[in-house]
Amino acid sequence: MLNFEDDYTPSAQPAYRPMPPSMPPVPQLREVALGIDRQSPAIVQPAQPTRPAPAAAADDIAHRRVRVEDKLIINAKADVNQLVPFKYKWAWEKYIAACANHWMPQEVNMNRDIATWKDPNGLSDDERHIIKRNLGFFVTADSLAANNIVLGTYRQITAPECRQYLLRQAFEEAIHTHAYQYIVESLGLDEGEIFNAYHEVSSIQAKDEFLLPYIDVLSNPTFKTGTHETDQAFLKSLIAFACIMEGLFFYVGFVQILALGRQNKMTGAAEQYQYILRDESMHCNFGIDMINQIKLENPTLWTNEFKAELKGMFEKAVALEYQYAEDTMPRGVLGLNAPMFKEYLRFIANRRATQIGLDELYPGANNPFPWMAEMIDLKKEKNFFETRVTEYQTGGALAWD
Ligand SMILES: [Fe+2]
Ligand SMILES: [Fe+2]
Repeated sequence: MLNFEDDYTPSAQPAYRPMPPSMPPVPQLREVALGIDRQSPAIVQPAQPTRPAPAAAADDIAHRRVRVEDKLIINAKADVNQLVPFKYKWAWEKYIAACANHWMPQEVNMNRDIATWKDPNGLSDDERHIIKRNLGFFVTADSLAANNIVLGTYRQITAPECRQYLLRQAFEEAIHTHAYQYIVESLGLDEGEIFNAYHEVSSIQAKDEFLLPYIDVLSNPTFKTGTHETDQAFLKSLIAFACIMEGLFFYVGFVQILALGRQNKMTGAAEQYQYILRDESMHCNFGIDMINQIKLENPTLWTNEFKAELKGMFEKAVALEYQYAEDTMPRGVLGLNAPMFKEYLRFIANRRATQIGLDELYPGANNPFPWMAEMIDLKKEKNFFETRVTEYQTGGALAWD
């Protein structure tokens, strides 16, 4: 690294060298923003002409001022770098709300949790098992979620308001991974055991293996929406993440840790989970809004065959999450038991399915944990477990005196 005091000797090579004729064309700004690889065999380059004729230029969406009607969630031709004029206000409002909910893991005091964990009588074996399994799933799950956004979803989304929210969401996934790591470190858990659980604990591995194909399809650099098949594959991946991963696979874990907190145990971890639950609830709702908007803009994607496939996905996911509930709770603990989760997962699956316009999958399923609604509706000024001394402030926090 150069210091200001260092002598700077200009390189013998000029900073700019003309590009030799054999070099590939420099991608246009919009192509970079959309992640379009001009080298890719999947992208067919027009032979002639390389620029539109002057008469056609006025109609070229990519080169004119962006109009609201040019914007689409996927496959828009309008410049993705122009945030305004707004079309998807719900996305922008969620971005603003997410920023207002900003929090950091190390703000939560973990001293009571550490004392409880170290006290041989502080927790039962079943409670310790729940905590370790819980962290075993979550320490890698949010990394998968972040990968899916950054390497997959983001480059297919052509609405800049949605891209703005996804950037915020990706950072929140990093904060969640940080929070789980912070709990593992605070409690002095075996990091090798916890961080490898997704390879070594079959109920966790099964959930991740269910999700991986939906990440892989999008993270393939040649993947691009724009055909019926790829648009359906993209929509399916969004549903797998928003409705199943963030909307279902997280919920056994959330209920368990928040149930501990309600019994005044591990209140620092419970508070972290409560902030994560609030974030995830918004991720899930944002994903559902995008899914419904894509459906509106591309109604031919929502075929009966596609709906039947989604129904199968939900049923498989409910079975996997129930298997995880049984593995984490071989006996009843904290007033909870695995069969209660069967009902809860059916209730949540119904809710996610109907939110995207599918029929209820399990008619009549009830919510055995109505107190979870209170946890999700956490207000910023409210500190349920009261482990934080001061409330986090966003905006206007800097003083220059
Ligand atoms: Fe997350
Ligand atoms: Fe998330």
